[in-house]
Amino acid sequence: MVLNLLSAAAVGLAVYLSGNVQPVAALENGVGRLPILGYNTWNYYQCNIDENLIIQTASLMQSLGLQAAGYNHVHLDDCWAMKNRSSNGSLVPDTTRFAGGFNNMTDQLHAMGFQAGIYSDSGWYTCAGYPGSFMYEEQDAMTFQNWGFDYLKYDNCAIPYDDIIQQGTYGKYQRMSDAISWLANSTGLPPLIFSLCEWGWSQVWLWGATVGQSWRTTGDIGPDWYSLTNIINVNSFLTQATDFYGRNDLDMLQLGNGNLTFDEAKSHFTAWALMKSPLLIGTNLSNITTETLSILTNSEILAINQDPVVGTSISPFSWGVNPDFTYNSTYPAQYWSGPSQNGTVFMLINVLDEPSDMFFNLTQSPWIRAGRQYAVRDLWAHTDNGTAVRNFTATAVPPHGVVALLMTDAGNEPAGIYPACAVWYQCTDQNGTHVGG
Ligand SMILES: *[C@@H]1O[C@H](CO)[C@@H](O)[C@H](O)[C@H]1NC(C)=O
Ligand SMILES: *[C@@H]1O[C@H](CO)[C@@H](O)[C@H](O)[C@H]1NC(C)=O
Ligand SMILES: *[C@@H]1O[C@H](CO)[C@@H](O)[C@H](O)[C@H]1NC(C)=O
Ligand SMILES: *[C@@H]1O[C@H](CO)[C@@H](O)[C@H](O)[C@H]1NC(C)=O
Ligand SMILES: *[C@@H]1O[C@H](CO)[C@@H](O)[C@H](O)[C@H]1NC(C)=O
Ligand SMILES: *[C@@H]1O[C@H](CO)[C@@H](O)[C@H](O)[C@H]1NC(C)=O
Ligand SMILES: *[C@@H]1O[C@H](CO)[C@@H](O)[C@H](O)[C@H]1NC(C)=O
Ligand SMILES: *[C@@H]1O[C@H](CO)[C@@H](O)[C@H](O)[C@H]1NC(C)=O
Ligand SMILES: *[C@@H]1O[C@H](CO)[C@@H](O)[C@H](O)[C@H]1NC(C)=O
Ligand SMILES: *[C@@H]1O[C@H](CO)[C@@H](O)[C@H](O)[C@H]1NC(C)=O
Ligand SMILES: *[C@@H]1O[C@H](CO)[C@@H](O)[C@H](O)[C@H]1NC(C)=O
Ligand SMILES: *[C@@H]1O[C@H](CO)[C@@H](O)[C@H](O)[C@H]1NC(C)=O
Repeated sequence: MVLNLLSAAAVGLAVYLSGNVQPVAALENGVGRLPILGYNTWNYYQCNIDENLIIQTASLMQSLGLQAAGYNHVHLDDCWAMKNRSSNGSLVPDTTRFAGGFNNMTDQLHAMGFQAGIYSDSGWYTCAGYPGSFMYEEQDAMTFQNWGFDYLKYDNCAIPYDDIIQQGTYGKYQRMSDAISWLANSTGLPPLIFSLCEWGWSQVWLWGATVGQSWRTTGDIGPDWYSLTNIINVNSFLTQATDFYGRNDLDMLQLGNGNLTFDEAKSHFTAWALMKSPLLIGTNLSNITTETLSILTNSEILAINQDPVVGTSISPFSWGVNPDFTYNSTYPAQYWSGPSQNGTVFMLINVLDEPSDMFFNLTQSPWIRAGRQYAVRDLWAHTDNGTAVRNFTATAVPPHGVVALLMTDAGNEPAGIYPACAVWYQCTDQNGTHVGG
């Protein structure tokens, strides 16, 4: 039925997408099975970081209940290093801002129950102009591990000349992946979790999962609605690439930053969590609002992000205002679903600037069984919202707002509902009579 509505061009796109996204063997090296939950310094502090901020942030994550909610990583981003390596080639932490040394800092983080993350770059320099790891991959991987780090974010700035690097995007990232694997093999210690920060989406086709545990699919996120819809739109076409051990990274959270409204922040968090992105908080925790905190600690949404049984992302089943498969940065797909440990999860995003009622037939989602009825759980209201038969309407969803539902099987639907097939197309009696449209 939906296919009849697609233009020839859209059919081409659909075939192109389904033809190219192949499941690949993920790097199942024992780390990064589930999305990382934690904090990263970049979105709020950029280069204004020091060891006190890191430890204060970790303390706030404890006192605000974020650690208890599952956020157990604290990550430095760019600007932690001295501009020059030491005479033996080693990276050196900024001697003023990290005067106590990284071992002291990571010891404290570990003692507090956190894992620690560091940042480097696949080119000559980091994006802020500090030394990159190109040609120093093994030495730097060893240094990061010696400093007590558990995780490495790896950026994409200052790419060497072609005649020097002689690598494609894949090979450029494989260098550090090999160094991490070599180090783990030679030390017997767990490998660093490897987070690729390459701003294209070619990783999703074949290679990202063979190199690291997550890969960015877009440029940097901004703290406004347009940036969110842009990222949601791009990723709506790439959801097939995400599973345990390897996933699309929609970039770090902007909740609490910029001019996001409460509803926009809820949409942001819901989309990132249910698409199984890493969730890295990026705001100033010393004055975080109770509203932002309440979003970040929604335990029913976090549980789906951390689903131990189903690693895949939700995917769109209907674009809503636009025809299916429309690529549109301000009006991305609105109706999404996916399987989970406890049932089918739905996400409805109102991309319009006014409130709207959002309707869908249950069987538009491939995970819903025809002929069954479903108990509806609202994952934001934290209420049981009765039983859905055939369809569901969320009324007056606020502008840029979101609805997240968990539907669980509640037995056969009541007898005698017309039509006899919820999906009328091709509905056929056993005696061969085609009754449907
Ligand atoms: C850093 O290295 C560059 C290039 O080798 C050199 O020109 C510069 O003087 C060094 N800076 C410091 C502070 O050592
Ligand atoms: C290299 O130099 C740094 C800083 O001077 C020092 O901390 C480190 O231990 C040295 N590494 C080796 C392998 O000698
Ligand atoms: C770590 O640094 C803090 C603050 O500078 C200091 O009080 C503490 O003794 C150091 N701990 C270790 C294990 O070096
Ligand atoms: C590390 O060990 C694994 C398992 O033996 C092997 O497949 C892999 O090639 C090794 N990696 C490196 C870089 O030596
Ligand atoms: C929010 O910020 C973005 C980027 O600066 C801007 O384009 C947009 O108009 C702002 N929206 C509101 C509602 O202020
Ligand atoms: C928190 O404090 C910073 C720095 O003073 C300020 O820019 C920001 O707007 C504050 N955030 C909130 C949510 O009050
Ligand atoms: C499934 O339900 C159980 C029991 O309520 C809960 O503990 C678990 O977190 C849920 N799993 C998901 C993925 O939501
Ligand atoms: C995106 O979709 C909206 C709603 O259909 C439409 O008004 C707008 O023109 C589209 N934008 C582009 C760039 O096509
Ligand atoms: C929902 O189902 C009804 C009845 O079968 C049908 O008329 C309608 O077109 C369907 N709507 C969508 C959005 O699929
Ligand atoms: C929704 O399903 C009910 C049966 O539960 C049916 O009566 C109603 O017509 C359906 N609505 C639409 C718009 O298809
Ligand atoms: C579910 O019920 C609660 C409590 O009545 C209500 O606040 C919420 O809006 C309902 N959710 C939906 C999607 O209708
Ligand atoms: C075949 O099924 C159709 C639709 O239910 C029905 O109208 C028709 O009477 C049936 N024919 C026979 C020969 O049973």
